[in-house]
Amino acid sequence: MEPWQVLQERFHGNSAPKSINLKDLIEQLYEAFASNDVDIDHVQDLMATYRSNPQEWRKFAKFDRYRYTRNLVDEGNGKFNLIVLCWGEGHGSAIHDHADAHCIMKILQGELCETKYKWPKKYLDNQGNEFQGELEEINRCIYKNNDVTYINDSIGLHRVENLSTVNPAVSLHLYSPPFSTCSVFNKQTGQKSTSKVTFWSKFGERRNREIQNARTPEDN
Ligand SMILES: [Fe+2]
Repeated sequence: MEPWQVLQERFHGNSAPKSINLKDLIEQLYEAFASNDVDIDHVQDLMATYRSNPQEWRKFAKFDRYRYTRNLVDEGNGKFNLIVLCWGEGHGSAIHDHADAHCIMKILQGELCETKYKWPKKYLDNQGNEFQGELEEINRCIYKNNDVTYINDSIGLHRVENLSTVNPAVSLHLYSPPFSTCSVFNKQTGQKSTSKVTFWSKFGERRNREIQNARTPEDN
């Protein structure tokens, strides 16, 4: 038992939630998604109970110098995707939606800033033509190691950024159901475009250059 677990047991007895490793997390996620009626709060609790251990996730954490990367860890029997995202210094995503899926994000290393936005509103100009205004910010939050957060399309859109100029960041994301495209948004105009979601690596294996280079500049 790790020293911190001994302390946890001493102070909290059996009532304290036990931490789990990455293998346990994946097993318990499969159990949670076994039925068609998924309790997403329970899934979020499982993600929170996992305690980040770089030795377990390092093989998935493949960085790119220029952009953040998405590295597939597990396809969850087609029910969910578990993905490690690697954020170099100053890397950030576009503002995007989540294609009607649940998105749970857990910080594995470093810090990430999440800015949430409302969906673009439509206005009419003097000629009766529709136009969209600048995206309105809902809030901004910094997440630290082991923190967990949740978003779906009914909450709004978001952008995730590693604001640090010196430290990389790594996060673990669960999407359910898995999706292959999402929408990205221009902050100033609210204009929406479709973006393909791609993987930089799968199951710890780097994909070939061609696939990597085929990424659209703003996928999420
Ligand atoms: Fe997202």
